[in-house]
Amino acid sequence: MKYCIALFLVLSSVCSLSAAPKMQKAKLGKTLYETCKVCHGANGEGNPAILVPGINSMPAWYIKSTIKKYQNGIRGAHPDDPAGLRMRPLSRHLKTDEQINAVANYIEHLTPYKNPITVHGDAERGKTLYMTCLACHGPEGQGNPVLKAPPIKLLPDWYIVSQLKKYRNGQRASSLKDVEGQQMKAMAMTLPDEQALSDVAAYISTFTQSAPAKAAQH
Ligand code: HEC
Ligand code: HEC
Repeated sequence: MKYCIALFLVLSSVCSLSAAPKMQKAKLGKTLYETCKVCHGANGEGNPAILVPGINSMPAWYIKSTIKKYQNGIRGAHPDDPAGLRMRPLSRHLKTDEQINAVANYIEHLTPYKNPITVHGDAERGKTLYMTCLACHGPEGQGNPVLKAPPIKLLPDWYIVSQLKKYRNGQRASSLKDVEGQQMKAMAMTLPDEQALSDVAAYISTFTQSAPAKAAQH
């Protein structure tokens, strides 16, 4: 019995020790996000008027990899990409891996938000076009971390169109060092015409529009 009590005391102190850094990390993420908030919004909902995407609930693994790409000039470096060029210096505001991890976790755990519909494409045609995307982004746009494919269902429709355009005209994934981007660029090139970008985006929006926004997590 004595042994059990001793073990309990040891375990509970280990637990409180591990909870403390977690809370500190959450606090750090929140503080760092103050800089991002100006453009991406308090709940990561974005601002289409200034071409800022919603990043609400995007997974930490993708945010981390993207921030690194901006920092290394693999993304947001093309002279004809004003939106990317605006984001790139902001990525440098994060100085250490610890800071990147903290802000990425904060973004992943924002209260879920449902993007409004702004693109009016033919979702039926988009469904057929989406057959090409399915293998990596999943049948419901949920993404696949093993393939480094992000959950595109969380993105605003106008941003999906804008990124597909950028892949096609070389403003995104212009660097051969952008391995995932190169893969995605090849896929964007398979879309037959400009209208197809809106059609596929309209279909991707249907993944979240039918489901009610999840209840607040915190
Ligand atoms: C001055 C406005 C501004 C601020 C401040 C800002 N961003 Fe951005 N961010 C943008 C714009 C514009 C884009 C879109 C770039 C593009 O089209 O490639 C973007 C894109 C991103 C993306 C890529 C999303 C995706 O799915 O492709 C991430 C991640 C991101 N920002 C995170 C952050 C974080 C974290 C911070 C705070 C450290 C931050 N941003 C601060 C303007 C801003
Ligand atoms: C071979 C796997 C693969 C296929 C198939 C694929 N993608 Fe992607 N896609 C990726 C990867 C990997 C990324 C992440 C690129 C990065 O990290 O910069 C991506 C990124 C994207 C982005 C940018 C997301 C963001 O947050 O900025 C969009 C939009 C997108 N894909 C849409 C599509 C559409 C639409 C199709 C079908 C026409 C498609 N993808 C097919 C692998 C794929």
